[in-house]
This record gives sequence, C-alpha cells and structure tokens, in this order.
Amino acid sequence: MEFFDRVKKINPKILKATKDRFSFRINHHRANTQETIDLLQKEGFLPEPVGWADDVFVLPMEDRKKIIKTQAYTQNRIYIQNLSSIFAAYSLDIAPDDWVLDLAAAPGGKSLIFSERAGKVSAVEPDKSRFFRMKRNFKEHGAKNIQTYNKDGRFIYKACPAWFDQVFLDAPCSSEAHIDGEVTWWSMRRVRRFSKLQKELIISAYESLKPGGQMIYATCTYAPEENEVVVDFLLQKYPEATLIEVEVPFENYQKGLREWEEKEFSQEVAKCVRILPQGAYSGFFMAKIKKA
Ligand SMILES: C[S@@+](CC[C@H](N)C(=O)[O-])C[C@H]1O[C@@H](n2cnc3c(N)ncnc32)[C@H](O)[C@@H]1O
Repeated sequence: MEFFDRVKKINPKILKATKDRFSFRINHHRANTQETIDLLQKEGFLPEPVGWADDVFVLPMEDRKKIIKTQAYTQNRIYIQNLSSIFAAYSLDIAPDDWVLDLAAAPGGKSLIFSERAGKVSAVEPDKSRFFRMKRNFKEHGAKNIQTYNKDGRFIYKACPAWFDQVFLDAPCSSEAHIDGEVTWWSMRRVRRFSKLQKELIISAYESLKPGGQMIYATCTYAPEENEVVVDFLLQKYPEATLIEVEVPFENYQKGLREWEEKEFSQEVAKCVRILPQGAYSGFFMAKIKKA
C-alpha cells in the first residue's frame, strides 16, 4: 500500500488539512504571560488564547516571519512550538517534586515545559550535534534544573531502573506528519526500521519508570506500526501496564485503531489519541501509560 492510501485508510481528513496558523507558549523561566502578551500587542500582534491553557497562543501563519524579530522572541520570552507537542507535554501529570525523564529530547522543547513544572528533568539525546544545540537551547531559555546526557535511550534503564516519577518518550519516527505534498523519503522499510527502534525505546522508558509512575509515548507519524503496534507490544510484554484515558479538549483527534492489516490490538489501545492536523495542530500520536 502506498503512503497516501495508508493515510486515507486511517482518516481521509488527514490529507485535507490546512496549516494556516502557528502557536507559541510563554517561557516562564524568563517571562510573565500578561507582560509578554502586552508587549506583542504593542508591536501589532493579536495572539489568540488556545482555550485549554492560559499560556499558549495562536497566530496566523503570515505573522510567523515577523514574530522572530520581536523582543518577546529575541529575549526568549516565548517558545514557538506546535500545539500538538505542547498538548502532549502538558498531558503529563507532573507534581512540583517530580523527577522527569525525557528519553529522546532534542531540540528540547518538551524538556523546557517539564522544567517549569518538575523538580528535576533528565534529558537524553544520542546525536552529538543535536545534543549540543539542545544544551544551548536550555541555557538560552533559562532552565536550570535539566541534566543532559549524550546517550542512547535504549540503554538508559540499565543505569537507572525504576528511577523516574514520569517519563516522556517522543520517539524518533518516520515523521509522516511532516510530509508536505511530494513523498520522497517514505518507505515501508523505513517505517519497519523505526518500529523496531521504538519497541526497544518504549521498554527502556517503561523500565526507567517508578512503580505507580506514568509515561507518555508519542510520535509525529501516522503509521500504526510505529504507534498502536508499539503500544500493544508493551502491553503484551508487561500485562500489568494500563493505558490512561486522555481528555482531549479539541475536536481534531481520533482514538487508537482497534486493528490494522488483520492484526487486532488489545482493547486498551483504543485509549491512545491520534491528533489530526488542523490549523496550528500537526499530526501526532500519544499514549499515556501507567506502571502498576
Ligand atoms: C521527535 S525528536 C524529539 C523532539 C523533542 N522531544 C522536542 O520536543 O523538542 C526525536 C529525537 O530522538 C533522537 N533519537 C534517535 N535515536 C535515539 C535513541 N536511540 N535514543 C534516544 N533518542 C534518540 C533523535 O536524534 C531526535 O532528536
């Protein structure tokens, strides 16, 4: 099956999405929401609150180039980030003393969110240049409670078994949500290669989690082989793991698939969320998992 046929089978709406807006959130390490919005309004912008968080805003795409020249942006008071990514990171129930592991962290946008809410964050990234860019990003945005590790996430659980209160795995993936028009680099072989890596990473994430802790598995791809299949694999391997229902405050999403290509998934998998692209939301998949 070709890429477009596969996506159509998941949901034909995916191919009709318009990307006419972008989003940003307030970086609380450097700024206050009201002051920053006042500053932007003085410069002629009309940021619209997203509705499900008081520090996340949306603007029309034509403002995207102009906003990077504003003081709010150059002083790192705002962080431009996709709404789906922000929503997924905000969905982790972080308590102020929690220790959060971000297992695939660069460029670090989600770690920055965790750092505002948690006591301590550990951010793991194996790619050297992405790792150093991420460290710079943390410094520029004033996050002081993030420890960084230039390591392969697959083996983290061996050094840190059951250490973390919360884990976020924003897995490396075939990035189908970023395919725009022509499909040049997509292949089923690539999807299968990522699926294998994701299964190793999700085990490492789960094993690193304290009993009673929660984790989120996420990708920016549509392929069920990289999403439902990976979550189902975890549930088969750890029957005590359960999925937590995520309350989604917008309409452009669907629940996890019950089956794909004659493979039926565990009933729990229906609690996964596939965000459909629309406006400032890009395509995204997330599953919230609880360790017994
Ligand atoms: C989707 S991106 C993460 C985006 C990041 N969470 C954010 O919001 O800014 C996936 C990252 O996983 C990294 N990665 C690739 N293989 C990995 C591995 N074996 N262990 C951990 N991370 C890996 C990639 O280099 C990439 O930076």
